[in-house]
Amino acid sequence: MAYREPKYTMQEIGIGIIGAGFSADLHASSLHRIRGRLRNVSVKVVGVASRNKDRAQAFAKKNNIPFAYTDYHSLLERHEISVIDICVPNHLHKSLAIEAAQAGKHVICEKPLTGYFGENFEGPEEFVSSSVSKLEMLKKASKNVQEMVNAARSNNVKLMYAENWIYAPAIEKAKRLIKASGGTLFEIRAEESHSGSHSKYSKQWKYSGGGSLMRLGAHPIGAAIHLKNCEGLIRDGEPIGVKSVIATTGNLTKISSFVKEPKKWVVSDWEDVEDWGTAILTFTDGSKATVITSDCVLGGVRNKLEICLSNAYISCNMSPNTCCEVFAPDERVFQDEYITEKTETKAGWSFPSPDEDWVRGYPQEMEDFIESVVLNRDPISDADLARQVVEVIYASYLSAEERSEVELANVLSGKV
Ligand SMILES: NC(=O)c1ccc[n+]([C@@H]2O[C@H](COP(=O)([O-])OP(=O)(O)OC[C@H]3O[C@@H](n4cnc5c(N)ncnc54)[C@H](OP(=O)(O)O)[C@@H]3O)[C@@H](O)[C@H]2O)c1
Repeated sequence: MAYREPKYTMQEIGIGIIGAGFSADLHASSLHRIRGRLRNVSVKVVGVASRNKDRAQAFAKKNNIPFAYTDYHSLLERHEISVIDICVPNHLHKSLAIEAAQAGKHVICEKPLTGYFGENFEGPEEFVSSSVSKLEMLKKASKNVQEMVNAARSNNVKLMYAENWIYAPAIEKAKRLIKASGGTLFEIRAEESHSGSHSKYSKQWKYSGGGSLMRLGAHPIGAAIHLKNCEGLIRDGEPIGVKSVIATTGNLTKISSFVKEPKKWVVSDWEDVEDWGTAILTFTDGSKATVITSDCVLGGVRNKLEICLSNAYISCNMSPNTCCEVFAPDERVFQDEYITEKTETKAGWSFPSPDEDWVRGYPQEMEDFIESVVLNRDPISDADLARQVVEVIYASYLSAEERSEVELANVLSGKV
């Protein structure tokens, strides 16, 4: 019989992005890059919404997006948009995701999925992080996740959690190596650090839901949990989850000698959030993950994860890495050419990533999300991973507050 080319009907997936800042830019350029294992699907970013008209329009122009709005409802009303991509500060994630789901749109939501931001706080003063116990925060954050999951489920739409680390080629390769080795994953050591967030929303708990453990820690914590979940699924068909957490946080930029220094190389105007945090996770099989986060580290962003197996060792260096090493005697040599995120200078030795977005997994993440919508399957980074991350982060805050180890099952079931 003669070969017949299958008939493909072109399917258009329209995306609306809410937010026009740093992460919106990463998402827009990654969505434009989807080349597609699905040859009959075309992905189009139809519109962007941000409160400031000029910024929305400039973003649309830069990213070749037809419509720019100051009210995100305009995106929800457009029939050709089937996916809403939430790239706004953390305190807005929940309400926007629920509204989008109720409008029948699939949801991509930036990390962390949600948290606790002082909602329903009734105190004599305005809410600051010390006004509410971390146990209360953990319970409310966990409830917020559940409300988002319920909204997606009851409106039959997907809730896709934008954790790019688990799509990074180094981590994907590590997963294949873990599977091939058949070894026991003893320990993970993971870090995200840099010299402080650019975003004005990161300085206050009411917008960010936490400090460095929340903003930076979501990535290494998410990747560590994902790898242990995968190990369990491969070996026994059951994910290995987190049993307990012990953590400590700090405010390094409040150290008096630093406060007196005239020149600040790191961001220092944090209000009621920590700028340093470390958490040790113990999994149900007894293995460990140590997560280090800091907003006080110079030399460009550090995104690193090490895996200690019973029969192998794996190191994933998303940034910096030595794929490209450059030297310049003066920082003007490379002019406006991008080097790497949050580097303080272009002089001396630098480690520019030839394709930083790809190395960190952003285009791969967007491709998985679009495929999961088209093929009606779960994304690799799903709401269950998002839930585990939120619970571990707030359990870490509780541990730091109480200066003791926190058993997740006990606190979440209300036994404590
Ligand atoms: N995956 C990653 O690697 C990564 C990296 C960075 C950030 N993130 C996440 O991305 C999210 C946004 O962070 P960002 O760094 O992109 O922050 P950002 O650069 O400050 O941008 C935030 C954007 O949200 C807009 N916005 C704020 N309030 C709004 C509202 N009520 N309605 C509509 N738009 C609003 C802001 O516009 P106006 O203020 O002008 O209205 C701005 O365009 C956070 O959840 C963060 O954790 C992820």
